[in-house]
Amino acid sequence: MTSNPPADTPPTGNGGDSRSPRNIVLGVAGGIAAYKACHIVRGFTERGDSVRVVPTASALNFVGAATFEALSGHPVATDVFDRVDQVQHVRIGQEADLVVIAPATADLLARLAAGRADDLLTATCLVATCPVVVAPAMHTEMWNHPATRANVATLRDRGVTVLEPAHGRLTGADSGAGRLPEPEQIVALSLLRLAGIGLPQDLSGRRVLITAGGTRESVDPVRYLGNRSSGRQGFALAEVAVQRGADVTLIAGATDALPTPCGAEVIRISSARELADEVDARATDHDVIIMAAAVADYRPSVTAPSKLKKTSGSAPTSIELTENPDILAGLVDSRRSGRIGADTVIVGFAAETGDGEGSVLDHALRKIRRKGCDLLMCNDVGSGRVFGRTRNRGWLITPDGSATDVPDGTKLEVASRILDSVVRITAAR
Ligand code: CTP
Repeated sequence: MTSNPPADTPPTGNGGDSRSPRNIVLGVAGGIAAYKACHIVRGFTERGDSVRVVPTASALNFVGAATFEALSGHPVATDVFDRVDQVQHVRIGQEADLVVIAPATADLLARLAAGRADDLLTATCLVATCPVVVAPAMHTEMWNHPATRANVATLRDRGVTVLEPAHGRLTGADSGAGRLPEPEQIVALSLLRLAGIGLPQDLSGRRVLITAGGTRESVDPVRYLGNRSSGRQGFALAEVAVQRGADVTLIAGATDALPTPCGAEVIRISSARELADEVDARATDHDVIIMAAAVADYRPSVTAPSKLKKTSGSAPTSIELTENPDILAGLVDSRRSGRIGADTVIVGFAAETGDGEGSVLDHALRKIRRKGCDLLMCNDVGSGRVFGRTRNRGWLITPDGSATDVPDGTKLEVASRILDSVVRITAAR
C-alpha cells in the first residue's frame, strides 16, 4: 500500500500515452470504412509509432495506395509477389509489435480463421507472433451470421482481440450493429494490448450498469451548479466492459465530447434526481453497478422558472440547498432489503483530496465503510489531478480495508484493472 500518490504526469501530445514507439502493422480490408484507416494511421504516427499499412487488393478500391504511403511514409503492397527479394510477409510479420486490422470484412475474418495465406496481409498474420487486434465492420446480417460468429469465436480462442463493432449508421440508409468504431477508439483499445492488457470475454453474459459524468442542478433556465467531471473514466469502463463481453447500459450526465462506447446503450440525464430515477429503474436488471458519476450532493431548493435578473432585483445573493439522494448508499440498502439481487456487485468511486482530517486514503477507507459497497476506486484529485485528463491512477479499496495500487495509466488501462477486480468479486460469489 502506498501512503501518498505520486505527482501527476502532464498529458502528452500522444493522447497521454508515453510508451516508446512501436512497429504497427495496419491491415485494411475492402469495406467502405477503409477510409477511416487513414485516421488510424495518424493516431499511431502522432504518438511516434511506425505504421506499415498492408491493405487487401479490394481495400485499394476504396482508398488508393498513394494515400496510405503518404500517411505512413512506407511503401504499400498487397501481394506476396511484390518485392519478392525482400520476402515481405516474413519481414513485416516478424518486425511487428502489434497487428491491427481495421476494418476487417466478413471475408477477411473467414480467411484469418481458416489460416489462409493468399495475400500479403493474411500471410503476414501467420508469421506475426505479436498481439493482433481486429476491428470488424460489415452489415448487421453478416456480423450476426453463424459463419461469422464461428470465425470470431475461433479467432478469440487463439488469443486475437476481436473488437465489438459499434451500433449506428451503416453504408446505406440502414443502421445497426456492424459499424467500425471511431479511429481513436480503435487506437486506444489496441494500445491496451501493447501494454500487456487483454480483453478476455470474462464478462460475457453479465449485465453491467455504469454511471458517468457530472450532474447539473438547475438554478434557473440558464444556470446550474455542476462539477469538473469529464466522464472519461466512466466511458472507458463502458468501452472495456463491452469489449469483455458485457451487456452495458451507460447513464451519462454532463461529459466532455466523448465517442459513444461501442455496443453500449446510452441514456442521458442531467440532474442527480434524474440519475437516481434511471438507476432505480434499471438496478434490478443488472449484475454489476458501477457509480463513476460525480453526483451533486445538493441542489438548489428552488429552481427559478425564468432567468434570474440582476437588474430586476430577483437575483439571490445566496442559494438555499437541499440534499440529493445518495444513490450508491441507496443501492446497498436495496441489496440488503432484497429489492435487488444479493449477488449484485456494487462499485463506488471516491474523488478525494487530503485535509486536516486525514489523507486521501483515510477518507476513502471511511467512505467504503460508510457506503457499504464492494469496491471503491479512489483518486487523488488535488491540484487539478485526474479531472479531464486522459490518464488516471489511484487505489482499489475493499471493505476489509485493503488498498491495491492502480498504477498510472490511460483511463482504459485503469478501467481494465477495475473490471479485473469486479470479475474476481463476481467469481467468488
Ligand atoms: N454518490 C451517489 N450519490 C450521491 C453522491 C455520491 O451515488 N448523492 C456516489 C458517487 O457516484 C461515488 C460515491 O458515491 O461513487 C462517492 O461520491 P463522493 O462524492 O466522493 O462521496 P460523498 O458521499 O458525496 O462524500 P463527500 O462529498 O463527503 O466526500
